[in-house]
Amino acid sequence: MGARDHRAAASAQAYLRDVQYRDSSRLAARARLHVKYGTASVAWFPWLVTQVDWQPDARVLEVGCGAGWMWAEASARLPHDLDLTLTDLSPGMVGEALERVGSLGRYRSTSGRVADAQALPFRRGSFDVVMANYVLHHVPDTQRAVAEMARVVRPGGVVVVACVGDDHLTELHQIRHEVFGTPTADPLSSNFGAPAGAKVLPATFGSVDWRPYRDSLDCRDPDDVVDYLASIPPVEDASPDDRARVVAAVRDRFEEGGGRLRVTKDTGLFVCREPRTGG
Ligand SMILES: C[S@@+](CC[C@H](N)C(=O)[O-])C[C@H]1O[C@@H](n2cnc3c(N)ncnc32)[C@H](O)[C@@H]1O
Repeated sequence: MGARDHRAAASAQAYLRDVQYRDSSRLAARARLHVKYGTASVAWFPWLVTQVDWQPDARVLEVGCGAGWMWAEASARLPHDLDLTLTDLSPGMVGEALERVGSLGRYRSTSGRVADAQALPFRRGSFDVVMANYVLHHVPDTQRAVAEMARVVRPGGVVVVACVGDDHLTELHQIRHEVFGTPTADPLSSNFGAPAGAKVLPATFGSVDWRPYRDSLDCRDPDDVVDYLASIPPVEDASPDDRARVVAAVRDRFEEGGGRLRVTKDTGLFVCREPRTGG
């Protein structure tokens, strides 16, 4: 990475830490759309935790834990004896996660730490399970973050990486494209998505298994879609005129759909085993 790339990465990370994920409000506007309008028979977090074969007294690291929602929303499907370490780049998120998960009193122990996925402050082999859900697309050096997760999981442990594919939320990207000319492919997937994971992860793990999560959105309130779009650039910092164009484009789509907007989802997770950590 050259000096210019380093500066760009540092400023992107500052935006994530201090603005986008300073607290969970923007993320909550996006999560709301999935929770309210998802059509899957089992919600995301309860489905996700059933993809792990939990061993007794498992030591678990979550990288990029956000507000710690998984441990609250899927608690009924999780064992009580977990030893949780919740980490995130954003101190605000770590604080929220600790408050939420700690106050449940559900797990054997819960601790939190501000940490960058690219430099995890833990010893080799410290965890039985390492999870990073929708995080790697934000990380400047994803290979380094993947290597770090492989380093801190014990041999025989599991690393879970959730991400999106190229066709995720296509209809919403089309609305942004119409107003701002941005690409129609999912921007998260372009940074690190299912295709990148399928290429990068097998270099670090002997066993990599992709598990798709079958879902779509059946949206019925245009305001929820506008809130979703407004939680991230370019709509987040758009001029009032451009924002009005977004609102009009959303309303047109609902009218065309007879009061509904169907949105495609393309997401899932990689279950990675047999870390190759080079000794
Ligand atoms: C889309 S949110 C996902 C949060 C949580 N995993 C979930 O599924 O609800 C991405 C999270 O990754 C965090 N993050 C971004 N870059 C990071 C990095 N380099 N290291 C650790 N966390 C990071 C953000 O602060 C944010 O909380």
